[in-house]
Amino acid sequence: MCGIVGYVGERKAVPIILEGLKRLEYRGYDSAGLAVYCDDQTLGIRRASGKLRNLEEAIRLDPVEGSFGIGHTRWATHGRPTEENAHPHRDCTGDIVVVHNGIVENYLALKDQLTAEGHRFTTETDTEVIAHLVEKCSDKPLEDAVRCAVKQLSGVFALAVLSRKHPNKIVAARLGPPLVVGLGDHEFFVASDVPALLNHTRDMVFMNDGDIAILTPEGVRFTDFDGRTLKRATQRILWDPLMAEKGGYKHFMLKEIFEQPRAVRDTTLGRVGQGSGRIFLDEVDITPKQFQAFKSVRILACGTSWHAALAGKFMIERLARIPVEVDYGSEFRYRNPIVSSHELTVVISQSGETADTLAAQREAKQKGSPTLAICNVVGSMITREAKGAIYTHAGPEIGVASTKAFTCQLTALFLLAMYLGQTRGHLDEAESQRLVQELLRVPGKLETVLSHDSVYEELGRKLHRATDFLFLGRGVHFPIALEGALKLKEISYIHAEGYPAGEMKHGPNALIDEKLPVVILAARDTTREDSRTLYEKTVSNIQEVKAREGIVVAIVCEGDNEASRVADHVIQIPTTDDLLLPILEIVPLQLLAYHIAVRRGCDVDQPRNLAKSVTVE
Ligand code: F6R
Repeated sequence: MCGIVGYVGERKAVPIILEGLKRLEYRGYDSAGLAVYCDDQTLGIRRASGKLRNLEEAIRLDPVEGSFGIGHTRWATHGRPTEENAHPHRDCTGDIVVVHNGIVENYLALKDQLTAEGHRFTTETDTEVIAHLVEKCSDKPLEDAVRCAVKQLSGVFALAVLSRKHPNKIVAARLGPPLVVGLGDHEFFVASDVPALLNHTRDMVFMNDGDIAILTPEGVRFTDFDGRTLKRATQRILWDPLMAEKGGYKHFMLKEIFEQPRAVRDTTLGRVGQGSGRIFLDEVDITPKQFQAFKSVRILACGTSWHAALAGKFMIERLARIPVEVDYGSEFRYRNPIVSSHELTVVISQSGETADTLAAQREAKQKGSPTLAICNVVGSMITREAKGAIYTHAGPEIGVASTKAFTCQLTALFLLAMYLGQTRGHLDEAESQRLVQELLRVPGKLETVLSHDSVYEELGRKLHRATDFLFLGRGVHFPIALEGALKLKEISYIHAEGYPAGEMKHGPNALIDEKLPVVILAARDTTREDSRTLYEKTVSNIQEVKAREGIVVAIVCEGDNEASRVADHVIQIPTTDDLLLPILEIVPLQLLAYHIAVRRGCDVDQPRNLAKSVTVE
């Protein structure tokens, strides 16, 4: 978490840094700050607690200008979100400034040692030790001083350093959290994520762990922590800068919810043979023979991506008849897991940088399992560690609550399930063709679901004062109940739980009273007789909630006349194959959460205490 931006070139650095920080605010918004090298050869530093707009106001009241500089937006880990703890942090002389994303685990020991040597500390942060470590070697070129400093750190860091004594130079270092270098014409940039730079360049270099980048207006050099020169390839990013704008919507989240038909279509096209029903996963460096040999699949992820993983288990087990286990990235490696080379590990992450998921992926790899990434960010760490990636073509997701990335993850998992089914001989041509046709119809059906937004808004108006919510589902709908509850909690701060509907009688029924809204996922593929049993059981759950006076919101398929008759509120979605229904049924839940949060006056795009990329463990 935390976002970093740096600029060297001939233009004024402050607007470029502020604009970059605006695009990185999703990574943290507890405080923000910047430092630039001014014409009078001093460092101009401005910092403010709270959101970026406070920093903008501070600069409006006390302007500062310079042609190179660094900036930061913070998600607090060590030290309260005050102005004193806002980055950039300085050494004793005030000549060296540092912005940092990550955690310096040995900062207390380093701080004690530096204090004993006479260094004075002014903040509660772990980052400040870095500035003092660089200061200790300040007789050397800045890059050497930074190398000296980073070798003494344990933990993870992405940092950018500038020094008053070395004008026109920024030194960046990475071990853990992401850093990307943007290449312009006699101007160079460094940032935590691509959207910060898209308005200036599409040519980017993704720094690796252990890389140092030295940026000057003449160019960028890369070395390792020992000073050995490194060659780093440039990638051209195809994202349109407009994709990272709100485009007339009130919030990024709303825009991203409405982008889902396009995003799911882009994730599908090019991977399906429309006539043959065949699936093509050309980006994956695992041969069909290897796919045939796997005895099981494990999926690793966190948060919303973990919910997609749970739905993926249903898809893969039904279409490919191969056992699937799903693990939290944050839990997996702490139990000495049993992993074999006959197991395929699928790692799901929107950002491709989630520290827990990455660590779990490394554990699986180290134990011999080939890993495959489902990811939204080209060149991110998780994709680079994997034997291939199925990219979700959602485009940049800025709203902290994940929406379009989730439906694209479900789409990618469906494609993977079909591919495994075909490669392993469990999915015949007729069924493949039927499923591909169903999948190709999903974007159009998403448009229909979105066209009913006024229904979700009205429901939000009726329910926004509730203090608790339950979301219930069975089978592949249970992960969607979890995801619906997560969306509501994170943006509206209402307590919500997702539960398997059949488990209600084992305890949670005690919660039901006339004030509790219970959202029940009762959609079914009416063409499949085997979906009837589960549906009937879900209708019984609705009756049970009603008998206890709970307020039932039922998500049903068009034409439904059983669940709809007993529910208090009904949301209809088009029907499709059971395994694809999650892509449709999550959308009303995203919009319900959105409208409730807006009515409650919550900050939808930047909910309290959260950040989008969780690059610390
Ligand atoms: C919730 C949300 C988080 C992320 C989780 C994993 O809306 O966005 O729960 O899903 O932090 O992030 P990624 O997918 O980037 O690994």
